[in-house]
Amino acid sequence: MVTASAPGKVYLFGEHAVVYGEPAVPCAIERRAQVTASHRDSGLRVHAGDLTIDGFTVEYEGSASERPDVDIEDSLVEAGISYVNEAIEQARDAADAPDAGFDVTVDSEIPLGAGLGSSAAVTVAAIDAATRELGVELSPEEIADRAYRVEHSVQDGQASRADTFCSAMGGAVRVEGDDCRTIEAPDLPFVIGYDGGAGDTGALVAGVCDLREEYEFAADTVEAIGDVVRRGEAALAAERVDELGQLMNFNHGLLSALGVSSRSLDAMVWAARDAGATGAKLTGAGGGGCIVALDDTPETTSALNYTPGCEDTFRAELDTVGVRLEE
Ligand code: MEV
Repeated sequence: MVTASAPGKVYLFGEHAVVYGEPAVPCAIERRAQVTASHRDSGLRVHAGDLTIDGFTVEYEGSASERPDVDIEDSLVEAGISYVNEAIEQARDAADAPDAGFDVTVDSEIPLGAGLGSSAAVTVAAIDAATRELGVELSPEEIADRAYRVEHSVQDGQASRADTFCSAMGGAVRVEGDDCRTIEAPDLPFVIGYDGGAGDTGALVAGVCDLREEYEFAADTVEAIGDVVRRGEAALAAERVDELGQLMNFNHGLLSALGVSSRSLDAMVWAARDAGATGAKLTGAGGGGCIVALDDTPETTSALNYTPGCEDTFRAELDTVGVRLEE
């Protein structure tokens, strides 16, 4: 039996546009998904005990066609099962053990589908735990690459390397196409607001893709996000936190124009700004879930606690440790 964990993340800049080759800067945060893999003769049994929703258990022989009977959206359960299923396939491939069976247990502190990189963290930790259980140790870079292939397949070919690279490596990273690297970042005062909901990443990414094809100005909006990210990288390197906040606000406006914000995400973003946050934006695919704000005072947290639609708020520290073996 082997247990591995990997961190979730927030996007300082660049989600969605990164799918079209623009740069993005996600940062790993100290909220982790933990996956335990135990070898068994055949098949796959997945138990997900704590996903900030009712847990579920599902047993199946290599296909994601069986549905657990739980009171959450089918698309989320389906996606969750598909990520674990494909991660186990990657582990079997890496260890040259195509028929290996597993019991897999997922315990996550990262809400599902909320923009904090739960699927990437579960995928990365599952690949690490299952390959180690088969006696093979992969580098974080190789785990990131295999986890990307999982997201690419589950998200119908529309995924970037950003979430999975960030979760595998930890810290702040910069991703532009296949060029993935870790970068220096100061400790930023992240405050997260969570509306208790979730977005369907595949559907949201497909929506942006359709807009880009239909309207040239939507394609320009994606490019403008790339420009914001490039300015943001310079502000990050120079530790100009005020400018970072301003650029996060700009990034949120452009994401909103692409249709991936929501009433509750906008309400939380505005509550944070009104409370004096340096900047605030949605994080991840959008549609519902989380916003990230920068504020080193308690004001944003207090304001979010009183914002209708905000279910939870917490501070998040940058996590410099990526995927790791748990004792
Ligand atoms: C989702 O966490 C981030 C997106 O940019 C999709 C991706 O990069 O694969 C929306």
